[in-house]
Amino acid sequence: MHKLVTHEGETVTGVDFGKLKTLKLKHDRQQLGNRYCYVIGTAPKQEGEYTYSVQIRKADGSTVIEQVTFVVDAFLQSPAPMMGWLTWNWFARSISHDRMVEIARGMERHGLVKAGYNTIVLDDAWAKPTTEKAELTYDPEKFPAGISGLKNAIQAVNPELKLGIYSDAGCMTCENYQPGSYLFEAQHLNLFNSWGVDMLKYDFCNSEASSVVSYTRMGDEVKKLNAQRKQAGGIPFVLNVCEWGKTSPWLWAAKAGGSSWRATADAREAWVGNHDLPGVLGGVDDVRQLWMYGGVNRFNDLDMMCIGLHGLGGPSNYTVDHTQNGGVIQGLTDAQARTQMSLWCMLASPLALTCDLREHPQGEANSDVIVPQNLITAADIETLTNPEILAINQDALGQQAEYMEQLSTGAEKYAAKGYDVFVKDLSHGRFAVSVTNRSEARMEGITLRLSDLYMKAGKKYTCHEVWSGKTIKVKDTLQTEALEPCETKVYVLN
Ligand code: GLA
Repeated sequence: MHKLVTHEGETVTGVDFGKLKTLKLKHDRQQLGNRYCYVIGTAPKQEGEYTYSVQIRKADGSTVIEQVTFVVDAFLQSPAPMMGWLTWNWFARSISHDRMVEIARGMERHGLVKAGYNTIVLDDAWAKPTTEKAELTYDPEKFPAGISGLKNAIQAVNPELKLGIYSDAGCMTCENYQPGSYLFEAQHLNLFNSWGVDMLKYDFCNSEASSVVSYTRMGDEVKKLNAQRKQAGGIPFVLNVCEWGKTSPWLWAAKAGGSSWRATADAREAWVGNHDLPGVLGGVDDVRQLWMYGGVNRFNDLDMMCIGLHGLGGPSNYTVDHTQNGGVIQGLTDAQARTQMSLWCMLASPLALTCDLREHPQGEANSDVIVPQNLITAADIETLTNPEILAINQDALGQQAEYMEQLSTGAEKYAAKGYDVFVKDLSHGRFAVSVTNRSEARMEGITLRLSDLYMKAGKKYTCHEVWSGKTIKVKDTLQTEALEPCETKVYVLN
């Protein structure tokens, strides 16, 4: 399934699928006020590039024909959103071989690898400090066995684990600590590849060219590398674009060669936040109107989740409250953590953890705070490994849930009031529907008409709520139970 995204004032007036007999247009949602045409069906079996043509009436009344190209490939970077663990929002610069191995052990011990979190990503400050791009290499003090030695060590914990790394499309990374990769893309990517790295988070500080030019340069190198890897029977190398949504990457980053792109500023451990310091709702508010751009191998990235940080995380601690409150923040409640998980999964964001999973956390992230033992709670692990919510994130259709603005009352950006309704198409004709209570007060249940959520009137659906595990039968309407403060309920209808 994908959507034909038109510009303001344009209408799709016809589609010619040519020989692509297994594709068709889905018109019914436009009757519900949706302005997009959906293309559904089964892709051709043979790998390759396919095109079909779309007739569009422009705002001035003229008609144009445009070609839509799609790719059938069994070697996609990210058929489903990436799941992993990133160093930045806990350790910041304080990373090392031993710490990463302990994190790998924690991921294994808590069942996170089994749940699908399989990529450990070294964020900024893994390299030897220098300003010379040609001299980029790892810091031997932090990584005495090198990056390939680290990869071997984490794979000794669990062979499923992969390693990701970080660079920047400019002259220096965001910490101004190590050189970026602009104009050295091939050299740096080959270096990462030779170390056994399978993923790159590519940041955009200190840029030297436009975002499109900078990311296309690296994307082209990743394409070449993936052609070689495919030939050799390897696994795809994954490129994550990180320019914080500043230049609308949802419009160009897939073509440039990325499979996910940050669509917000750095996530903070707060409930609301704002555009520059987004909390859970702040991040969602920035991404909820971008649902038509998401799809298989093209995901809007809501940044690292703050679940498990408990108010002690390093960079994610710098919230709006932090600045007003002498550095003390509350951290997310369990309900807020479940909402973060629910919405990151509904919106098909990559799932990146950053919490301290070591057996004996020592508080490097925020050295004036004594980190309690068992920082990660059983509730955190339950939230992060709930198989039903993960299945919504990893669903094969790859759709980002649609923000149902007409059915929601939380329309005001970055405000903790009202409720938000999302609906997501799942494989096998199923739907996921979420309702988020944005406020810190209890909310009465609401009634939603199934026909407003794209489902059929008069048909009986089995309706399963993923957090409570309750299953009911519904017809025509979905009546939710009351929602606790900041709670999200997620229903799967079948
Ligand atoms: C930027 C990114 C963060 C992190 C830091 C590292 O701010 O958005 O996620 O990678 O740089 O310096």
